[in-house]
Amino acid sequence: MTNPWQFSLAGARLAGRSGILELMDDLGRALTTDPGMRMLGGGNPAHIPAADALWRRRMGELMADSDALERMLGNYDPPRGNPPFLKSLAGFLNRTCGWDITPAHLAITAGGQSAFFYLFNLLAGPMPDGGSRRILLPLVPEYIGYANQGLSPDLFVACQPEIEILPDHEFKYRVHFPSVEAALATGNIGAICVSRPTNPTGNVLTNAEITRLSELAKAAGIPLIIDNAYGLPFPGAVFLDDATPVFDDHIILTLSLSKLGLPGTRTGIVVARPEITEAMAAMTSVVGLANTNTGQQLVQPLLESGEIISLAREVIRPFYENRAREAGQWMREAFGDDSGWSLHRCEGSFFRWLRLTGLPIPTRELYQRLKARQVLVVPGENFFFGLDADWPHRTECLRLNCSGNPETVREALHIIADEVRNIRLHGTISAAPAV
Ligand SMILES: Cc1ncc(COP(=O)(O)O)c(C=O)c1O
Repeated sequence: MTNPWQFSLAGARLAGRSGILELMDDLGRALTTDPGMRMLGGGNPAHIPAADALWRRRMGELMADSDALERMLGNYDPPRGNPPFLKSLAGFLNRTCGWDITPAHLAITAGGQSAFFYLFNLLAGPMPDGGSRRILLPLVPEYIGYANQGLSPDLFVACQPEIEILPDHEFKYRVHFPSVEAALATGNIGAICVSRPTNPTGNVLTNAEITRLSELAKAAGIPLIIDNAYGLPFPGAVFLDDATPVFDDHIILTLSLSKLGLPGTRTGIVVARPEITEAMAAMTSVVGLANTNTGQQLVQPLLESGEIISLAREVIRPFYENRAREAGQWMREAFGDDSGWSLHRCEGSFFRWLRLTGLPIPTRELYQRLKARQVLVVPGENFFFGLDADWPHRTECLRLNCSGNPETVREALHIIADEVRNIRLHGTISAAPAV
């Protein structure tokens, strides 16, 4: 059908085709109407029995509490978030991270995704002085969900990283600081933004890289946004022992309850100086009046008791760390001694990032061919937005969420290896046997 109405420029940008729409559409279908699909796309957290049991227990406690359920379902919260939750969260962050923050440093949003929409459009785009500012991504590939969030075009500028080749089919991206400094020197950067651990690669920027980015942001008089969706202190999908969470006056840190196993509650958290959290609350009231409060009600007592820390350390981290290691072994088993494949070293998150050096077709096409064989992955092209120069590396990577059923993941990895072998042997003509 043809749309009879004209969309605004900003509307068309938000309502058009995008990588994140395709990804969420694929994910939603695989989890509802197409259960036969081997699901290595999307960023859905795994259903870890101990985590699911905890949420069931908490829901039972809420139901048993005299009027908690009625208050949760029947009342609007203030747009900044639920006041008792904010108080518990500030106390928890101060105790576990050694910070000195108050509820005024916190704001809740409808998922981390909404927080980024607000932050990016607050800090970049057309400015009152007639100029225009952009968000600097010091290292791409970076989270696909940012790419289409700008109300104005060209919101992002990104830097190509250095690639360190490691033994045993592994590699690691490192921030190329001369490029970051050159981008900052243009004077039109509104904020620096990184996800840590990084979606899609599982990279955890080192403490030294974060310190240097923080110093550069401070010197430029702009914020450093750190997307902590997988990070510390919760959900805790970080597999290094020395990666510390940081906060400062010029840092905006975002957290989320999603990767604890609560994506359906849509609860994001912004930790920042009060001018920023006030802006978040104001934007929430304009866009959605108030936030969802179920996640806050479920989690508040766990912040008070510290149970959220044992959940992160004893349930979340071991599950994803083991799965990342197993996926690496299955990948070695599937690809064997073939050359031309390597994985980003996985230091956190739910993902393995596969590089297929010299693949004769772009991974967007490989994604379609794998989908036809009932394997869902995310093509790498979507994660390299904001780059000026064309970089062949963009078309040779795949993001794999390996946290689903182990047999399914293993089978899917074998199908991927088989398809890649066929492509390398036969070029672009599909020789894929049905699996
Ligand atoms: C790096 C990163 N940031 C933010 C989000 C947004 O998550 P949510 O809106 O569920 O909090 C995601 C989701 O996958 C993510 O991977």
